[in-house]
Amino acid sequence: MKHIVEIDKKVVARAKQLLAMDSADAAADLFRQAYGVKLDTVGPTVYLRGLVEFSNICSRNCLYCGIRKSNRNTPRFRLSKEEILDAARWTYQNQYGSLVLQSGERNDDEFIDFVEDTLREIKKIGGGALGVTISLGEQTRETYQRWFDAGAHRYLLRIETTNPTLYAILHPDGDNLEKRARCLTALRDVGYQVGTGVMIGLPEQTIDDLARDIAFFKAMDIDMIGMGPFIPHHDTPLADLAESFDPEKQFNLALRMIAATRIILEDVNIAAATALQALKEDGRERALKAGANIIMPNVTATKYRRAYQLYDNKPCLDENSNQCKTCLANRILSQGESIGLGQWGDAPHFAARVNPEKRKLS
Ligand code: 5AD
Ligand code: FES
Repeated sequence: MKHIVEIDKKVVARAKQLLAMDSADAAADLFRQAYGVKLDTVGPTVYLRGLVEFSNICSRNCLYCGIRKSNRNTPRFRLSKEEILDAARWTYQNQYGSLVLQSGERNDDEFIDFVEDTLREIKKIGGGALGVTISLGEQTRETYQRWFDAGAHRYLLRIETTNPTLYAILHPDGDNLEKRARCLTALRDVGYQVGTGVMIGLPEQTIDDLARDIAFFKAMDIDMIGMGPFIPHHDTPLADLAESFDPEKQFNLALRMIAATRIILEDVNIAAATALQALKEDGRERALKAGANIIMPNVTATKYRRAYQLYDNKPCLDENSNQCKTCLANRILSQGESIGLGQWGDAPHFAARVNPEKRKLS
């Protein structure tokens, strides 16, 4: 990792201090502080991204993931271009402002062409009105460029963990952390707004690891953060961890990670991950009060949702897009937050990065 980016030890120490605020009182303080930073930097408006999980066909074997290639117990599916466009039109008509396309990772030409073609069609909706984020794993710089030229302007690629040993264990494909970090650099060079994140509470992951993760986000000048708790999936090699899994502890750690990230990174977008709601009924709303400002409601047709389970206990499997819309709107408004309808909701950090004069002096 050294070759990619230099981590600032002072940032690691500060992050560690924040993450260690684990008693009920200290955590409440931490969340208040993070919420204050959120109000000062990105404000109380929650932006929505309609999430289309368009295929669970995956060429990789990440140990934690329910749609890993070796899991023969999940039926494989892919949406047609028309089905994706239906979801995109619904997202536009319901004023979500932005769309996220996510799928299992594939690197073959047919897939790359399909995504490119679909992106061009999506950009025709409302004359390019929809913001488009993609989350399609590790690809070559050329592929990232083609998809950017076709209309995607944000990319989510979680680094998963910046601990190289843990990374290597969890990713048996022979791919390493450095390669993944290089993808983030390539994405930024191409011109994307770049999002990354980690899983929180992985086996053997320490508070030091998480503190270094935050310092990595900072050193990479990341625009968007998507991260959530690790949750064991029953059809993966990590299934046995379910026995000792403590949802309460995992949830609290995830919230502290979100809060510490907000305090240190300030003006980035941070998603309230769906996995938080798998652990606690009001998980996503609680994250909004601990620094998150983005929610990604699922807009995939209900019949496909059950087959896209990366972790157990995923919410919203039987609901449709309309039900999730009403449900989430109520959840957000119940927190006293407002919803930024019909807007892209770019992170101020991105504007400041491409136009440094806009960077707030601190
Ligand atoms: N628990 C929590 N998050 C998971 N992801 C994959 N499997 C799990 C799991 N078991 C996350 C990874 C990936 C994102 C799409 O989903 O961080 O990048
Ligand atoms: Fe899907 Fe609440 S967000 S049911």
